[in-house]
Amino acid sequence: MTAWPRPDVLLAWPDEAPLARALAQVLGCPMHEVEIHRFPDGESRLRLPPHLPPQVVVLRGLQNANARLAELLLVSGGARELGAETLTLIAPYLGYMRQDVAFNPGEVVSQRHFGRVLAQSFEAVVTVDPHLHRVATLAAVLPGRQGLALSAAPLLGLWAAQQRPGALLLAPDGEAEQWVRVAGEAAGLPWAVCTKERQGDREVRIALPDVPWVGRDVVLVDDVASTGRTLAQAARLALAAGAASVSVAVTHALFGGDAEAQVRAAGVQAIWSTDCIAHPTNALSVAPLLAAAFSGEARGLAPLSPG
Ligand code: R5P
Repeated sequence: MTAWPRPDVLLAWPDEAPLARALAQVLGCPMHEVEIHRFPDGESRLRLPPHLPPQVVVLRGLQNANARLAELLLVSGGARELGAETLTLIAPYLGYMRQDVAFNPGEVVSQRHFGRVLAQSFEAVVTVDPHLHRVATLAAVLPGRQGLALSAAPLLGLWAAQQRPGALLLAPDGEAEQWVRVAGEAAGLPWAVCTKERQGDREVRIALPDVPWVGRDVVLVDDVASTGRTLAQAARLALAAGAASVSVAVTHALFGGDAEAQVRAAGVQAIWSTDCIAHPTNALSVAPLLAAAFSGEARGLAPLSPG
């Protein structure tokens, strides 16, 4: 993907204002919060600046996508009426990427249809570490549009190396190999990959790779912590095998329900996440990484799979 024009303005929701402000500062463009009134029936009245310039970037994380999508589509339509010519969506977390095939007859392939909806409203979508597994590129999810999948994995690797020098980086499953490899290479740390079998939303079975464990600091690296069961189980096994400590570095701190408590109860020493999703475990900002998409410079953090 070639560099996009620098944005004229960044639009963001109030609950994501800290990341939006940091990003606007790096981009050197103004940031406006979408004004929102939520009616008693749950619908929204949205207000944007009355005159918008041509290049508009909309920042909206698509965790909790069922609740967020309607407002996002309304803002996209409204922004065009108010002057936007090119709309780029920055969704630091891009939901609905995991249902990428029909696992059972009749199942809706949500990734495909979610991507189509976004492609109808935005010329381009930028995200960080999307859960692309059986579908290789973000562009393939966004028919006829540009997609850029950036990776926070180098950032996580460098952070882990600072916090736990010499640590073993460990992917809790095969799908995370793409991130742990990049993190390990960026930081010059060894890495290894577990195997995982998911038996239900909250049940996973994990097997450790055959590497020396005794006395080692281990940092689990993954794209997302959702129920936390994957990380908790991998941490328990590594500690039982003799690891000196287990910490966690994830891009997306979804942490639903008791997830964080589960991970800590497994004996995890520290949890570090990026601010793709605002969470108390945030240790790293992706603002410079996101801004690099518009400058055409990778700034040391190369796009994982340009669309
Ligand atoms: C799955 O393959 C992902 O990389 C994560 O490991 C997974 O989504 C984490 O889910 P949970 O926290 O619910 O175990």
